Amino acid sequence: MFKHAIVRTPGTTLTRGITGHPELGAPDYERALAQHGAYIRALESLAVEVAVLPPLEEYPDSCFVEDTAVLGETWAVITCPGAPSRKGEAEAILPAIREFYPEARIHRITAPGTLEGGDVMRVEDTFYVGRSARTNDEGIRRFQDILKPYGCRVVPVALREVLHLKTGINYLSGRRVLVSGEFTGHPDFAGFERIPVPPQEGYAANCLWVNGSVLVPAGFPQTEGALRALGYPVLPVDTSEYRKIDGGLSCLSLRF
Ligand code: GLY
Repeated sequence: MFKHAIVRTPGTTLTRGITGHPELGAPDYERALAQHGAYIRALESLAVEVAVLPPLEEYPDSCFVEDTAVLGETWAVITCPGAPSRKGEAEAILPAIREFYPEARIHRITAPGTLEGGDVMRVEDTFYVGRSARTNDEGIRRFQDILKPYGCRVVPVALREVLHLKTGINYLSGRRVLVSGEFTGHPDFAGFERIPVPPQEGYAANCLWVNGSVLVPAGFPQTEGALRALGYPVLPVDTSEYRKIDGGLSCLSLRF
């Protein structure tokens, strides 16, 4: 169960966020702000206390706080983002993390290691970590070293198509994951019940399980229907402006 979440209000520079999909156009800032507010309210409706950090105009992608840290019950790891324009975001999240964790339990990924939280999917005490354009072997090795004393296991996963691991696979509950594209048949997840999203709804694989309910990006009826059929209460949240810069539901918060 999650008690807390940390989010960061997007700055106006959001419109210049990194994107692999320029054909979708730049985000509309006012609409993005409204969507951010609705996202916070959705988390709050699921009994999550949300800490809202101020915008960081110098970092266009800084509302995607998930990439800057990985948070456990008793420990925190500050990451080292692989995207050059995002490196400083890790230092900027630190004061917020210090509000919840003692200094001795706050660990760091340091260069030449890189790791972004979007590449980390937790299933109980196992952390699947995508080896991506943003997360390298050294970052994964360091993450493994940090988590070992806490009794956690790290499983590296090679990625072929997606930006981050959680772009294409997200843990729901039990042994169940929601998958798209390369993860529908990925051998590393053969032991899971895989719920496939249809190819035209690939973006919706980035759903967010929160305290028994699932936040789903609005506008993906088949994914929504599949989750409802499995018995999950579903909360559609519009993320159209974040999608334009490769962001999704999970990227917008740190949950713990
Ligand atoms: N625009 C989100 C990212 O590239 O990290």
